[in-house]
Amino acid sequence: MAFQKNFAWGVATASYQIEGAAYEADKGLNVWDMGSRTPGRIFEGHSGDVGCDHYHKFREDVALMKQLGIKAYRLSINWARLIPAGTGKISEDGKRFYLALLDELKKAGIEPWITLFHWDYPYALYQKGGWLNPESPLWFEEYAKVCTTLFAPYCDHFILINEPQCFVGLGHESGAHAPFLKLPVHDVMVVAHNVLLACGRAEKVIRKTCPHPVMIGTAQAYWPSLPQNASDYALAERDTFSTRGFGSVSYFTDPLIFGKYPEDGLAWQKENGFTFPESDMEIIRSKVDFYGFNTYSGDYVTEKNGELTRLTPPMSTPKTDMRWNVHPDALYYGPKFLWDRYHLPVVCTENGVALAEWKDLDGEIKDYSRIDFLKRYLRALSKAADEGVQIAGYFHWSFIDNFEWAEGASKKFGLLHVDYDTLERTPKASAYYYKKVIETNGEEIFR
Ligand code: NOJ
Repeated sequence: MAFQKNFAWGVATASYQIEGAAYEADKGLNVWDMGSRTPGRIFEGHSGDVGCDHYHKFREDVALMKQLGIKAYRLSINWARLIPAGTGKISEDGKRFYLALLDELKKAGIEPWITLFHWDYPYALYQKGGWLNPESPLWFEEYAKVCTTLFAPYCDHFILINEPQCFVGLGHESGAHAPFLKLPVHDVMVVAHNVLLACGRAEKVIRKTCPHPVMIGTAQAYWPSLPQNASDYALAERDTFSTRGFGSVSYFTDPLIFGKYPEDGLAWQKENGFTFPESDMEIIRSKVDFYGFNTYSGDYVTEKNGELTRLTPPMSTPKTDMRWNVHPDALYYGPKFLWDRYHLPVVCTENGVALAEWKDLDGEIKDYSRIDFLKRYLRALSKAADEGVQIAGYFHWSFIDNFEWAEGASKKFGLLHVDYDTLERTPKASAYYYKKVIETNGEEIFR
């Protein structure tokens, strides 16, 4: 059987995307709360103010997870809910909420995988310069320490920072995501470097604070290049790890795992006049226990006239509602490449599909394409496992329909449908399918 015993069959969400309760108690605001107040930023003026209202409905959500046989739940902490000003005083309300949620998961026998930061940066810290401020890694260290002290009794798996590629690149370079900045490349490099310093500091403080051994990992935005022909394997692998901007995985993980930026990343820094003290690398270099990657698709590449060519997919290629190509090979080659380069157990910390679907008149959500997607992608993942890649888990994005950032509620990734008026949850056909996948430790995907 391809999937190992104790495989972490999970679902994933993120705080801003599902919690709602944006103005509850003494919660501090974050950059997405502020961004979604600004007209024109988010699709049709949507916001996460109420979202799925998970903050009030978490018991129901955990019960649904239990019914579906979910083994692991990847959730994130809303930093400013826990520490309203980003540093200093802890909110009693924030603390109570997360402890109650973790307790509920424990009672349901569901293992929490906590992501410390999934993009909802405290606005109070943003006003002090955010990730540009040289103190920002220290703020994150303090926050990581608070999270470990409070949550480690419930949790063995911590993910440091979700998709630095996105909130650094989309948030600080192209301005499509909060905090909606368009900084020069040099300054985005400062942001990226501070994020890496923050990861390094957090990894160390978690291990120091936690009374028991914990597994610490990443959740990288990973869009591998895929070989068009068998002979393109090495080319695709090389291209996957090249630094072609802030979307690069090697730029954000080589420093953590190997203690150095990739060569092409260093050359790019030089072109932009970015320098840093060598001693920073000692802080950044960390013991990473698993390589978590979020993968939805990849691009096929081949060699033409000695040059790498990125292929335009044929017109027949199925596309998701995000217009991402359905390329299951991404879950085959992707993990293989990571295993070759980093030799760490890998975890698919996100994978899923947005579909233009709705609840039918009969009350059901017949998302058969999501079932097909799951089957195809999980078959690819199992092939990588068969070939010796150590794969420790798979987290479907997402447990429930939610706020898809600049796309608002218009993109639906959930195994559960949510009616944003009544907040009623309805498992889709795919949720019952995933239940069977879990029950059979993956056998179901071959049926
Ligand atoms: C990546 C992000 O981590 C998550 O927040 C987002 O909703 C999904 N991918 C889908 O785009």
